[in-house]
Amino acid sequence: MITLKKKFSDSFNFLYNKKALVRVDLNVPMKNGEVDDNTRLTRIIPTLQTLFEKKAKVILISHFGRPDGKWDTQYSLKNICNELSILLKDEIKFVDKNIHNISNTELEDLFNDYNFILLENIRFYPEEKKCDDKFIKKLCSLGDLFINECFSGCHRDHASISGLPKYLPSFPGKLLEDEIVNLKNLILSSESAQNLAILGGAKISTKLKIIEFYANNYSKVLIGGAMANTFLTAAGIEIGESLYEKRMLKTAEEILDTFPVKIVLPSDVVVTVKKDPTRTFIKKISDVEKNDLIMDIGPQTRMIFYNEILESDNLLWNGPLGFFEKKPFDAGTNYVLNAVKNNKNKKFFSVAGGGDTISMIRKANTYDSFSFISTGGGAFLEFIQRGNFLPGLSSLNN
Ligand code: 3PG
Repeated sequence: MITLKKKFSDSFNFLYNKKALVRVDLNVPMKNGEVDDNTRLTRIIPTLQTLFEKKAKVILISHFGRPDGKWDTQYSLKNICNELSILLKDEIKFVDKNIHNISNTELEDLFNDYNFILLENIRFYPEEKKCDDKFIKKLCSLGDLFINECFSGCHRDHASISGLPKYLPSFPGKLLEDEIVNLKNLILSSESAQNLAILGGAKISTKLKIIEFYANNYSKVLIGGAMANTFLTAAGIEIGESLYEKRMLKTAEEILDTFPVKIVLPSDVVVTVKKDPTRTFIKKISDVEKNDLIMDIGPQTRMIFYNEILESDNLLWNGPLGFFEKKPFDAGTNYVLNAVKNNKNKKFFSVAGGGDTISMIRKANTYDSFSFISTGGGAFLEFIQRGNFLPGLSSLNN
């Protein structure tokens, strides 16, 4: 399991009057051109404020979406830059000039008027994804040191993630440090404790390793969402026309055979039918019929999951338990999330992360009830599966 060799505070002696290239993740959900969930922005503010206090000149680098190496204004960081400036209470200068044409003198001039500069989407450059050495050196020439404050991008072997530490003194940011400490804490939690994993969302395929990891190491793994449908089908239970992953049936069957007690599936569900999606019914899982569409976990399952949380010492949560985006099918997830608020065990340690989990928790008003919320999507899942081997983390240690 990885231990970061350097700390954020180790950078403090190097910061005075120096240009710090800071990799952040401004890849936030947007709606009509506005930031829809600013969690990833608010979580980097303490690091940015510290860099300011230490008199560093900060050059922010980030990706947004997957523009595939092409300049495409729909993936511009401009609007996000405005939102980040507001949160930081300091205007960030947005520089949309091609990095290849930016000179150090130009940057120095800008730093006469601004404390922070944000470069345009780093994924507009094909060299980023290729981790191109010439491109890495060009980026390095713009700064004196590198700070990786992008845990959520550490699973990518990209120039601005794993490339920069090759040539610059490099340090983790505060948020990155916190992510590692908390996720390690969860992974290494004692075997004698009641350790619970709640996993939902659509696909088993993207979370297979995490299911196996927790089934091997934790007391119980509770499964909801469309992911549960694949397990139910593998167990020979009718799921009607509900979403499931056909190609994962054999794997799901093997997991159920290996962990018949630890894996807990819904015992009742909320269903609807394609012809009239406005009508909903609660059914025992054994009563689901061939035209039914499973949309959420049922009241009995909610109660079972809720009580399991109340009795647990450690909890990992990833993904919704039903079709959360559409009311009223968010009700099961919301109900069970409330148990995190109501667990009175003083040692209770709860972590959530991955994919759309943050916005799900925000919408259920339970953000502050968790001990830690990871900003990682894919990186969160990969860290749990691969530990040390995230390129962004190992490059920081080399
Ligand atoms: C994320 O949203 O998980 C990160 O920003 C990484 O994005 P990516 O999956 O496009 O690399």
